[in-house]
Amino acid sequence: MEKFRVRGGARLLGTVQVSGAKNAALPCLAATLLTAEPVRLYGLPRVRDIVTMEKVLATLGESCQHENGTTTVTVGAIEAAHAPYELVRTMRASVLVLGPLLARRRHARVALPGGCAIGARPIDLHLNGLVQLGATVTVQRGDVVAQAPGGLRAARIEFPRITVTGTENLLMAATLARGTTVLRNCAREPEVVDLAQLLTAMGARIDGAGTDTIVVEGVGELGGASHRVIPDRIEAGTYVAAAILAGNGVRVQGCIPEHLTAFLDTLRAAGARLEVESDSIFVPGQGERLRAVSVTTAEYPAFATDLQAQFLTLMTQAEGESAITEAIFENRFQHVLELKRMGAHIEVAGRCARVTGPSRLEGTAVMASDLRASAALVLAALVAEGETIVDRIYHLDRGYERMDDKLRALGARVERYNPGPYQ
Ligand code: EPZ
Repeated sequence: MEKFRVRGGARLLGTVQVSGAKNAALPCLAATLLTAEPVRLYGLPRVRDIVTMEKVLATLGESCQHENGTTTVTVGAIEAAHAPYELVRTMRASVLVLGPLLARRRHARVALPGGCAIGARPIDLHLNGLVQLGATVTVQRGDVVAQAPGGLRAARIEFPRITVTGTENLLMAATLARGTTVLRNCAREPEVVDLAQLLTAMGARIDGAGTDTIVVEGVGELGGASHRVIPDRIEAGTYVAAAILAGNGVRVQGCIPEHLTAFLDTLRAAGARLEVESDSIFVPGQGERLRAVSVTTAEYPAFATDLQAQFLTLMTQAEGESAITEAIFENRFQHVLELKRMGAHIEVAGRCARVTGPSRLEGTAVMASDLRASAALVLAALVAEGETIVDRIYHLDRGYERMDDKLRALGARVERYNPGPYQ
C-alpha cells in the first residue's frame, strides 16, 4: 500500500493549479446514461473515484474515451442496468446512476452502498423520491431494484433533509419524467448547478438549480452535449489551508473563489491574509499566528463539511481555543486521533471538537481513514517537526489529483513510495 513520506518545515512558494471538481464530475458522468448520443466532458480530474465511476458506466454498456483532457462517453450496445456491489462498495456515489438508469431504461439494479468511515450515509431520501416519481423500489439480495415500466411521472417532492446526491439523482430522473416536477428543500451546492448546466445543454428544461426549489419540465429524450466541469472548491480550499500553514506566497490558480465564501470569511476572521482575484486566491506569507475561531459545518453556502478536517488542522496552530462542530456527518473526526498522536490538543464530545492551540506537532507514522481526513494529516505533516509517514493514501487519491506532485512543485518535501509487500 502506497504511503507518503513528508519532512516538515519546508516553506511553500509558487502557483498550484486546481483540477476539475470530483463532486461535479461524478453526477455529470452519471448523466451520460440519459442519452444514446455522445457526451463530451472536459476537465474531469484524474482521481480514483472518476475511474471507478467510468468502470460502473462500462458495466452498464457505456464506453469512455480519453483524449487530451476530453472524456467522451457513448452508450455501448449492452443494455445492462446493474451496477455491481464490488464497484458500488468502493464508492457510494455510484448510487448516482440509479436516477438516470431508471429514467431512460425504466429499470435499474444498483447495489446498496454500505456505510463508510464518516457515517451510515443511507440513501432513503433518494429511494423515497424515486417512488414519488412513480417507480417501484425494492431491495433484493443487497441490491436496490427499481422499476418504472410505464416511465416516470412528475411529482412535487420535498426533501425531509438536504441531500446533495439525492438532489442530483432526482434532478436527473425528473428530466425524462412526464410532466413538471417540483423539488423542494434541494441542495444548493455549485456541483448541483454544474450538473443542471450539463443537463440543460442535453436538452433538459430546468429552472432554479442553485436555489432550494428546482422545477423540471420533463422532455421525451435528451441528446449529446459538451461540458467543462467546474473547478474543485474543496481542493482549492485544501491548498489555501496548506499555504496559510506553510506558505511564503502561494497562488491557488483556476478556482472560483465565490464557491468558498464561507471558508474564506472564516479564515479572515481568524486573521488570515488572503488576496482574492476572479479565478485565483493568493496567500502571502502569514506573519503573525492565526487566532482560534469556532465554526459549525452546514449545507452550502455555509461552511463545507468537506473542509472541516483541513480547518481543524489549521486551528491546531492558532492562538486560543476553537470549537469545531460537524453537523452533517455523525463520525467525521477520524483525523483527530492521528493529529493528537502528532501532539495536537483536541477533545471531542459528540459532534464538537475543541482544539487548543498553538501546539507543537511532531512527525510520526499516521494512518489516513477517509478522503478529507487524509488531507488534514498531510497538512499537519507539512508543519510537523521531523518526518511523517502517512499510510493508506489511496484515500487521498480518491479525490485529490497528484497531491504529492502538486505539493512538491510548491517546495514541500513529500515523497510517495510503496514499502513493498507485508508492510
Ligand atoms: C455529498 O455526499 C458529497 N459527495 C460529499 O463529499 C459531501 O461531504 C456531502 O455531499 C455533504 O456536502 C458527492 O457529492 C459525491 P448528503 P452525499 O446526501 O450526497 C444524510 C467528499 O469528501 N442522508 O448531502 O452522500 C447523510 O447521511 C464527499 O468529496 C440521509 O439520511 O451527502 C448525511 O448525514 C464526502 N439519507 C446528510 O444527509 C439520504 O438518503 C447529508 O448527506 C441521503 C443523505
